[in-house]
Amino acid sequence: MQRPLSGVHLTGWGAYAPSLVLTNADLERMVDTNDEWIVSRTGIRERHIAGPGETTASMAAVAGLRAIATAGLRPDDIDLIIVGTLTPDYPMPSTAALVKGAIGNKRAAAMDLAAACSGFVFGYATAHAYVAAGLARHVLVIGAETLSRYTDFTDRSTCILFGDGAGAAVLSASDEPGGTLGIEMTTEPAGAYFIWLPGGGAARPTSGATLTAGEHFMKMKGAETFKMAVRTLGSTSLKALQKAGLGLADVDLVVPHQANSRIIEGLAKSLVFPMERVFVNVGCYGNTSAASVPLALNEAVASGRVEKGDRLLLVAFGAGVTSGAIALEWTADPAAAARAEGIGPEDVAVVPGYLDPVNPFPPALEWLLEGASGVPGGVPGARTDTTPAAGAAAGVASPTE
Ligand code: ACO
Repeated sequence: MQRPLSGVHLTGWGAYAPSLVLTNADLERMVDTNDEWIVSRTGIRERHIAGPGETTASMAAVAGLRAIATAGLRPDDIDLIIVGTLTPDYPMPSTAALVKGAIGNKRAAAMDLAAACSGFVFGYATAHAYVAAGLARHVLVIGAETLSRYTDFTDRSTCILFGDGAGAAVLSASDEPGGTLGIEMTTEPAGAYFIWLPGGGAARPTSGATLTAGEHFMKMKGAETFKMAVRTLGSTSLKALQKAGLGLADVDLVVPHQANSRIIEGLAKSLVFPMERVFVNVGCYGNTSAASVPLALNEAVASGRVEKGDRLLLVAFGAGVTSGAIALEWTADPAAAARAEGIGPEDVAVVPGYLDPVNPFPPALEWLLEGASGVPGGVPGARTDTTPAAGAAAGVASPTE
């Protein structure tokens, strides 16, 4: 039996989306697909792509610095940095260690967390535990991904789905009421290989054979993933609410993992919960894995969908199959986001390794760079699309505008 949760509040939030945008029309030029198919099956209209000079660590650092500023803190106030990611800059050192250096923090412990798309929610739960146990006062939790580096841009069944970006939150100790109310985390290995990146690990080390077979790209059983996602998102949500002593009627806004608008609609339908109280921005970002929930949360706050005293439910699922949900009462002033204005890529510096640098940008997308302005590390979150993306249609401001 879990003890009642108290004393841990979300005090800061921030996000970063790279300036380069890949639209459905762009993908039509690359694979046998079309905008109508992609929008009707997924709700996705465009996704952001990290520029040649950007990595998971650099994007995570910008989002993290923004979250620290929003919380009214300085980098050295952070005791622990957790980065949820399936696309770390390197197997080692951790991306979190690089982020610590990039934001100029001198004190924090830093570690990565591998739970795929549930990485931010699992990171939140871990941060909560550290704060609640008295081991940390302020924890920076980041979800960040550069999925474009692991996407097969000749495979139409997956390349339409994924995008890059980062989102972050600061969790802090506080004696005020509210904050985190209920947490649920699950892992179902029966679906472990539904979403899989086979090559490059200890089981299938990188070799000529793994490269030839395309094993360094994400593989996915779409239909199986879809069904499991709807089921697990629903059960995890209900368990987190139960632990919080809340019912669905108490929830002002659900912020789900943005994998596919049909999955989100399926979740709402299975819970008999109104879509008007579910935040959706998958149209503008695609599936950004661990970055998706904090990117959506950031955008929800920026667009006025979150007020002090609101009860939120953050819920995610991902490879593993992992799933996690957080029920919380929002206690921060949404206007605090103004403190992060002006923070951008120029404010972080990821220390490079000692080997010669390489250009990590996907060769299949090189043509996109022609005429692109501000790459690498251009205007943070600037929209370069002209299509009425789902978030824009709903009057949703960019998280970084
Ligand atoms: N454009 C046009 N046609 C396509 C495309 C495309 N991009 N992709 C597939 N098709 C075709 C298929 O080849 C198939 O054609 P066929 O009937 O002639 O064989 C047809 O469209 C239907 O394909 P399905 O795979 O059955 O399409 P479905 O309706 O299942 O949608 C999708 C596919 C969008 C991938 C869906 O299964 C889905 O969203 N699954 C969940 C994905 C997801 O959420 N993944 C999470 C990953 S999270 C993480 O942890 C990284």
